[in-house]
Amino acid sequence: MNITIAVFFGGNSTEHEISVISAVQAMGYLDHQKYNILPVYMTKDGLFYTHPDMERIESFRDIPALTSRSRRVFFVKEPDRVVMASWPFKRFGKNEVTPVDLAFPIVHGTNVEDGTLQGYLATLGLPIVGPGVLPSAIGMDKVMMKSVLKDAGIPVLDCLEATWKDWEDPEGLLARIAERFGYPVIVKPVNLGSSIGITKAGDERELREALELAFTFSGRVLVEHAIEKLKEINCAVLGDYEDAQPSECEEPLPSDDAAILSFEDKYMSGGSKGGAKGGTKSGWSGSKGGAGGSKGMASLQRKIPADITPEMRDRIRETAVKAFHALAGFGVARIDFMIDEEDGSLYFNEINTIPGSLSFYLWEPLGIPYPELLDRLVDLARKHALEMQKTTTAFDTNILATAKIGGTKTR
Ligand SMILES: Nc1ncnc2c1ncn2[C@@H]1O[C@H](COP(=O)(O)OP(=O)(O)O)[C@@H](O)[C@H]1O
Ligand SMILES: [Mg+2]
Repeated sequence: MNITIAVFFGGNSTEHEISVISAVQAMGYLDHQKYNILPVYMTKDGLFYTHPDMERIESFRDIPALTSRSRRVFFVKEPDRVVMASWPFKRFGKNEVTPVDLAFPIVHGTNVEDGTLQGYLATLGLPIVGPGVLPSAIGMDKVMMKSVLKDAGIPVLDCLEATWKDWEDPEGLLARIAERFGYPVIVKPVNLGSSIGITKAGDERELREALELAFTFSGRVLVEHAIEKLKEINCAVLGDYEDAQPSECEEPLPSDDAAILSFEDKYMSGGSKGGAKGGTKSGWSGSKGGAGGSKGMASLQRKIPADITPEMRDRIRETAVKAFHALAGFGVARIDFMIDEEDGSLYFNEINTIPGSLSFYLWEPLGIPYPELLDRLVDLARKHALEMQKTTTAFDTNILATAKIGGTKTR
């Protein structure tokens, strides 16, 4: 019997559109002989819709038209299964109800990739592809992930965390940062992705502007030393606590002199400049096109394999697996490193627990085509669901039925 997979994407995130690109791409490669695919598009307002047209990227050119012809849905736990039902639920007449076996969240960014969606799906009792709440939450928090990794002996850049409260005294904060790191520094919202709100600051005026911007995206901001002779290397890891394997390494290349790979570099390269709204041309085309033709994250200028020594490649792949385990990684994650070419130091930069394009292009060079990567992810999720069934999650007896509860203060 076919497995019914609900692919969740979109959501109230600054990386909404990137999620649409990643999810449509993945749905194109999921084996439709083995799986029934239910696209579940979450609007920026958090409404859930489904329609077979959601497997084609062109449908998202006009989202209001797409949602108006789609079925609005919600999910319900029944005693023996989880179903997707149409909303509003009819009191009379037949309701359309679709059983779901597995959820595949292909989401990026805060409110979705950070454990929020994973928690919702776990509460429903739906097995999910990719990590659960804890790794997702830690992976979205640049400060938390650094402390976990530091504890595991993985090199990370030292950082300062500032909150809105600290920003009430800008002069004090500016002075503290300058004293601790000097310049240049990098300022990042703690819990975003896709370089949104990230700026390099070379002096006090730039730092003030960088903090101003970062604080519009998050109440917590991270500041760290900016590596000037930077080489970035990414390596994905696939597996779980028992067995995890590293992918090929890539070197993402910025397309202009900007030190930071911008949102446009990552997702819109080839298109016009102008942030999320501009340059959508390249993002929309060729959602199923293999490593060369596919867009979104995969269209970024990159070197695969990365131009590094075999020793550095081994070190990165080994550290990537170690970091994956330290963060309780599950499914496929991409671990991003920074090399300071001044002295050859290697630093873990971040983990992406649901990487753009699921980093399929890093597995193809190792002989794992995209459909196989997806099959492995589904198998891992099913294995995990079986393992979870073996753990005790609740007791059958109702202790309250026999306990002496007289006199207990309940309010
Ligand atoms: N300490 C640093 N020094 C120099 N460049 C950095 C540093 N930290 C980040 N960057 C640049 O900023 C980009 C985005 O930062 P990153 O921490 O990866 O955030 P995001 O989650 O938005 O991808 C990196 O890919 C890199 O180009
Ligand atoms: Mg990054």
